[in-house]
Amino acid sequence: IFEQPRAVEDTLRGRADLATGDVVGEEIGVSAELAKKIGRVYFVACGTSCHAAMAGRYWVEQLAKIPSIVEIGSEVRNREPVFSPTDLVVAVSQSGETLDTLAAVKAAKAGGARILAVANVLDSAIPRTSDGALYTHAGPEIGVASTKCFTAQLAALLLLAVHLGRARGALSADEARRVLDALWKVPEQMRLVLSRSEAVKDIAKEFVHSRDMLFLGRGTGFPIALEGALKLKEISYIHAEGYAAGEMKHGPIALIDENMPVVVVCPKDA
Ligand code: F6R
Repeated sequence: IFEQPRAVEDTLRGRADLATGDVVGEEIGVSAELAKKIGRVYFVACGTSCHAAMAGRYWVEQLAKIPSIVEIGSEVRNREPVFSPTDLVVAVSQSGETLDTLAAVKAAKAGGARILAVANVLDSAIPRTSDGALYTHAGPEIGVASTKCFTAQLAALLLLAVHLGRARGALSADEARRVLDALWKVPEQMRLVLSRSEAVKDIAKEFVHSRDMLFLGRGTGFPIALEGALKLKEISYIHAEGYAAGEMKHGPIALIDENMPVVVVCPKDA
């Protein structure tokens, strides 16, 4: 967790030109020529990497205006999705070895799609099977849970979205500069949050005996809420669910009482 600022910095370094708003194409694994031909971005991933992919999808649609979908690797294996040569399949994986994601990549390849791996482990199976690779430079994830790699994946996927947007003329240089500038400020903001870890401990003590917990968010806050719930389950063995905030009224609100802690992801703006 505490290595996140460094992991994000290392993932961004050398890849973005803040003066022009451009992202270095070869480093991203998709040339400007190829970017123009993409008809759909199809993200495949599992677990935490899938939550990062969901945020990536929002950004690709918002900044590059390319229709995008996200699918869980195991579901690609268990049904018969249709791929085409104008698909850019983005396989997101920390280890680069997850079998379900690898199988999805192979199915997409057989369907003629172009594959870009967003991986953390150099030369692992998924990047080796792909046409290009965009590496997160998070360093080894020693613990079982993916932590610093999640935020490094987000940084890499935002770079990809800016690159696609610039290459296709969907994103102005000004707007790209604004996004990249904000992205470069993230590590410093992370340091500020991490410096307040004692306050987080106090909050944790208050909820340590909770049996369940809800995480809510809207827009990119939704995948972040899903990831919060996954991390709580995995690390604290407390049952948790993540929901799109707007879905609460369609059923889950019935679970809310004075014993149900709710974490709401609510940044100041979109
Ligand atoms: C959760 C976690 C898992 C992985 C998932 C995919 O903390 O680590 O959900 O994200 O198993 O693994 P990778 O990213 O290696 O493909």
